[in-house]
Amino acid sequence: MSSIVIMGSQWGDEGKGKMTDYLAQDADMVVRFQGGNNAGHTITFNGNTYKLQLVPSGIFEPSKVNIIGNGVVVNPQALLKELQILKKAHVDTSNLKISSRAHLILPYHIQLDISQEKQRGKGKVGTTHNGIGPAYMDKAARIGIRMCDLLEKDTFAAKLKENLVQKNALFTKIYDEKPFDFDELFAQYYEYGQQLKPYVTDTSVLVNQALEKHQKVLFEGAQGVMLDLDHGTYPYVTSSNPIAGGALTGAGVGPQSLQRMVGICKVYSTRVGEGPFPTELKDETGDYIRQTAHEYGTVTGRPRRIGWFDAVAMRHAKRVSGMNCLSLNLLDILTGLKTIKICTAYELDGQKIDYYPASLKELERCRPVYEELPGWEENLTQMTKFEQLPENAQHFLKRIEEVTGLPLITVSVGPSREQTIILQDAWEE
Ligand code: IMP
Repeated sequence: MSSIVIMGSQWGDEGKGKMTDYLAQDADMVVRFQGGNNAGHTITFNGNTYKLQLVPSGIFEPSKVNIIGNGVVVNPQALLKELQILKKAHVDTSNLKISSRAHLILPYHIQLDISQEKQRGKGKVGTTHNGIGPAYMDKAARIGIRMCDLLEKDTFAAKLKENLVQKNALFTKIYDEKPFDFDELFAQYYEYGQQLKPYVTDTSVLVNQALEKHQKVLFEGAQGVMLDLDHGTYPYVTSSNPIAGGALTGAGVGPQSLQRMVGICKVYSTRVGEGPFPTELKDETGDYIRQTAHEYGTVTGRPRRIGWFDAVAMRHAKRVSGMNCLSLNLLDILTGLKTIKICTAYELDGQKIDYYPASLKELERCRPVYEELPGWEENLTQMTKFEQLPENAQHFLKRIEEVTGLPLITVSVGPSREQTIILQDAWEE
């Protein structure tokens, strides 16, 4: 297998970091293809813990090429901060490459994100306030500023000026906010561009060369399929495409380049921010899972909403993303629960349905149809083989395979790399 796409199969925060680090060990190249510094993943390396938001997780190995693809929206200030932290820790970052076509997140995008959310009031999306949506808005409106534009003084000046006319009018006339000063912004960000210049290149060329040489390329998705702009719970979604298809446009490769599509999921569901969540647990079980698994956002610290495993959402995610196997996390968290539920269908207006409705109103009326499975008491955290798991846990895993129609390749029983039951080597044909 020379290419793998990793993607979140639920609403993000499925623990992609652990699997990415694990698969990155054998990869020659790690490619981020969408999102921005709304993502966050924690890596422990040489006893130190790092929170990476933009830099791909292969950065700790000097032999691996790390790509920030054209589909990513890059906040230059946030990226430089991340690079500084890595340099301080003596991590060689010269193997990082940033697409010349990647669009920038500038301070007015962040302000617009905050202002729009404020204006939406109760109907807010619950964004991370990192300017992700407004940056993709400008990209689609063809007024975005790309990495290559930042490096050309005149181009950057002209584009920034043009953008500020429109954005400052919005801030002063609609949102009652202060306007941005061109000179200040230009000087600061042109300088950032100069610092990032050595990393900027046509990354699609590099990724395609690696694929042609049959090198191992790992495409690292951020967020999750249910937050996908097209296929998620719109408008309570992010503004990019976390599905495997996002890797095609976001890295500049053809569809034949993608081989294995690994969906990462939890044995239960979580979501941060607003939006429908049919299996949400607003009870003691939800609180128990949140506390036991420390379900609080890496980027924002917000408590995550908890729900049972939702096979309807998973089958939807499988269909729209091309996912062909599953990597299941956090099985150990369910230890001690008397019964565990899997949502196998929804009931909508008295009818059993098997699809994920596009209409939010319909989705709000959906009631989960649950299958109840017996729990287990055993501590799983030292178990390394499927056969060592209690019978009820084995049965639960088999049911997950059956209800999703996806084979499991790994099952995680704790946060460290060793606490992983490997059922199949993802890189193997
Ligand atoms: P945005 O991506 O900041 O615009 O936020 C849009 C929605 O996606 C919000 O509900 C966020 O909470 C959610 N979101 C964005 N990034 C992540 C992530 O990395 N994990 C989980 N949820 C996320």
